[in-house]
Amino acid sequence: MQNIDKHFIRWGALLLAAGMFIGLYMAATHDFKIGSVHAHLALFGGAMLMVFGLVYRAGLAKNDSWATIHLWVSVIGAIAFPLAEYLAITAGQHLAAGVASLVVLLSGLLFLLNVFRA
Ligand code: HEM
Repeated sequence: MQNIDKHFIRWGALLLAAGMFIGLYMAATHDFKIGSVHAHLALFGGAMLMVFGLVYRAGLAKNDSWATIHLWVSVIGAIAFPLAEYLAITAGQHLAAGVASLVVLLSGLLFLLNVFRA
């Protein structure tokens, strides 16, 4: 995909902002039980996606169709995992968090693949 770096960085910036709003919500309400939702959205969704984008930008990971798959698996995982954590914390539903964590793991493995093919 052309401009894969920009796609990663734009999604990362968006999810970082969303994570920060959740942080503000926790601070304002003094309700810290969704701290891991905030942390994963800001760290995996925000920081990690932007690191991926910078690595593609630097040419340190191969940008071909596997990179496009890596982008969408990462975005889906970065949104699904915090949502599923929220469900686990508030409703005791752990299955979705387990499945979403595998999507996040797959993102890490695709990154490994693309870094070693560069
Ligand atoms: C507007 C910006 C932010 C606000 C208002 C905010 C607010 C908070 C609050 C209120 C907590 C809970 C503290 C506690 O449990 O005592 C927290 C925890 C945390 N935050 Fe943020 N935060 C912000 C940005 C970030 C960013 C940018 C990151 C990482 C990239 C981050 C990572 C974390 C982590 C790792 C925790 C610990 C979570 C846990 O213990 O479960 N935060 N934040």
